[in-house]
Amino acid sequence: MKTLALVASVVFTFSAAAQDTMKAIQATAFGGPEVLKLEDVAKPVPRDGEALVRVFAAGVNPVDWKIREGKLQGMTPPPPFIPGYDVAGVIDSMGPSDGGTRLKLGDSVYAYLALTAGGGYAEYVCVPLKTLAKKPQKANWSEAAATPLAALTAWQARFDQAKLQPGQTVLVHGAAGGVGHFAVQFAKAKGAKVIATASSANHEFLKSLGATVLIDYKTSKFEEVIKPGEVDVVLDTIGGDTQTRSFPLIRKGGTLVSIVQPPDAAKCKELGINGKVFLVQPSGTELAEIAKLIDENKVTPHVSAELPLAEAAKAQEMSKSGTTRGKIVLKVR
Ligand SMILES: NC(=O)c1ccc[n+]([C@@H]2O[C@H](COP(=O)([O-])OP(=O)(O)OC[C@H]3O[C@@H](n4cnc5c(N)ncnc54)[C@H](OP(=O)(O)O)[C@@H]3O)[C@@H](O)[C@H]2O)c1
Repeated sequence: MKTLALVASVVFTFSAAAQDTMKAIQATAFGGPEVLKLEDVAKPVPRDGEALVRVFAAGVNPVDWKIREGKLQGMTPPPPFIPGYDVAGVIDSMGPSDGGTRLKLGDSVYAYLALTAGGGYAEYVCVPLKTLAKKPQKANWSEAAATPLAALTAWQARFDQAKLQPGQTVLVHGAAGGVGHFAVQFAKAKGAKVIATASSANHEFLKSLGATVLIDYKTSKFEEVIKPGEVDVVLDTIGGDTQTRSFPLIRKGGTLVSIVQPPDAAKCKELGINGKVFLVQPSGTELAEIAKLIDENKVTPHVSAELPLAEAAKAQEMSKSGTTRGKIVLKVR
């Protein structure tokens, strides 16, 4: 009898331990792609106001490899940490208090996880309920995971920063990338005219998303195609020379929004334009509005590559090449 009880207790302890771990990619140090390891780690436990999400897919963004290389130290946790800031999955459980959310266990959801938290390259992640929204029904798991960080950036640039209006002209640099391809579609949905810079291989793709003037930045100077003062808003996802050469193209009172580098304040003052830079913020409310646009077929997330979770290092190196069309996604299940 004693032996039976001992066996039962060992089996119970073993299965409880098995349930409490999960597969995840850990950044074991700051450094190159080799610091990313697929490991068994403790499954997180949701606290008040959080949901535990069973992750189906995780989006890959340029910030992932920048954080891995230690470029954002101070803003992000020290190693070992689980990277990944975009997820799509199912609510598995909730913390003791649900914070009055309308979301329920079993809901299909998507979220941008704050850079201070991360944890998306894993089978499970805890997410503040207020930053979750229901996954767009028209998007599959990969398309949903491709959306949050890049689409929220484009959304916040368009509405919060630039206050883009119907009939205005917007110049989107890096239009074929993660942020750019959402920015083109949001501007088109708002009734704006979109001028886009991208290599010629991406021009048909961008026309299909709503851009009407395409400029190959590799073979021509965009400032020789666009007239001075012709654009109301510039979205700068590139920085440097691209940003500087964009200033004269903006009409007086217009806006340059950068997501990579603060615009030169003195230059903006001299030209009478608004120069802004910002860091994307998580928002469940905005993700719900973005999901609506996706379900109305006004916006389509573009996934150019899907890799298994174990190939996170390869996915980050692909992102670092700077040639991604749309998004790269890790399939977790
Ligand atoms: N501040 C924030 O909150 C925030 C949020 C999101 C992203 N970011 C940053 O913004 C940048 C863009 O992010 P992302 O996710 O869109 O990057 P991404 O997906 O890696 O962008 C890749 C795209 O950039 C295009 N590109 C490269 N050089 C170009 C140039 N000189 N002119 C025009 N297009 C060019 C490429 O187009 P071709 O292949 O056609 O050359 C490619 O499609 C990154 O540095 C990222 O870290 C900041």
